[in-house]
Amino acid sequence: MAQATLHTNRLSLVPLADEHLQLEIELDSDPEVMRYITGRASSPEEVERAHRRRLAAADEVLGLGFWAGFADDDFVGWWILQPPNGPDQPKVAGEADLGYRLLRRHWHRGYASEGARKLIRHGFEDVGLNRIFAQTMAINAASRATMVAAGLRFTRAFVSGEPYDDPVPDAEQGEVEYEITRTTWQHRLR
Ligand SMILES: CC(C)(COP(=O)(O)OP(=O)(O)OC[C@H]1O[C@@H](n2cnc3c(N)ncnc32)[C@H](O)[C@@H]1OP(=O)(O)O)[C@@H](O)C(=O)NCCC(=O)NCCS
Repeated sequence: MAQATLHTNRLSLVPLADEHLQLEIELDSDPEVMRYITGRASSPEEVERAHRRRLAAADEVLGLGFWAGFADDDFVGWWILQPPNGPDQPKVAGEADLGYRLLRRHWHRGYASEGARKLIRHGFEDVGLNRIFAQTMAINAASRATMVAAGLRFTRAFVSGEPYDDPVPDAEQGEVEYEITRTTWQHRLR
């Protein structure tokens, strides 16, 4: 199946496309949004390069990729359900990495977990995944709480092997990974 448009009560999750680039630039230009990702605002050029990588994520496994989320046509942020990538994510077939990044004005309204729950259902029911995981800096309380709200459970703490140009403040406290398996989801959350 190709990457689908998904709907929740309040959100339309649309496969990421070139028409979303300006929205991504707005999102990544807020240093508060980027605090636990790069520790600083991204330049438009950096976002454009990231946009190309985000689009490419949809080519690897049918049904996975990045989604731009809208509430009543208002851009909220993006969500990912993408194949494992990078040094911290072993390439295991049937697994995917969950993530989210929202404009600050939309925080604390339940949007991130609402979209995440939809992507988890999509991943298990439509794509046939066996395991969905999410990773963040240990000190990113909002991201960790969103993982729990979406039904994931802590599985490991680790030190990232990702090479960063500029060290992110508090990166020395390490990373965490949360997960949900298909079996757990079927028993607990359907
Ligand atoms: C992480 C992020 C997506 C959360 O978005 P959100 O829409 O505010 O999250 P939700 O409203 O769905 O909240 C989900 C849970 O997290 C909790 N939460 C949200 N922000 C929190 C914070 N700053 N500290 C502690 N808990 C927080 C909520 O109370 C809720 O818990 P509950 O279900 O027990 O009530 C948002 O803060 C963000 O975009 N941050 C910047 C980008 C980022 O760090 N992304 C993750 C990188 S791995």
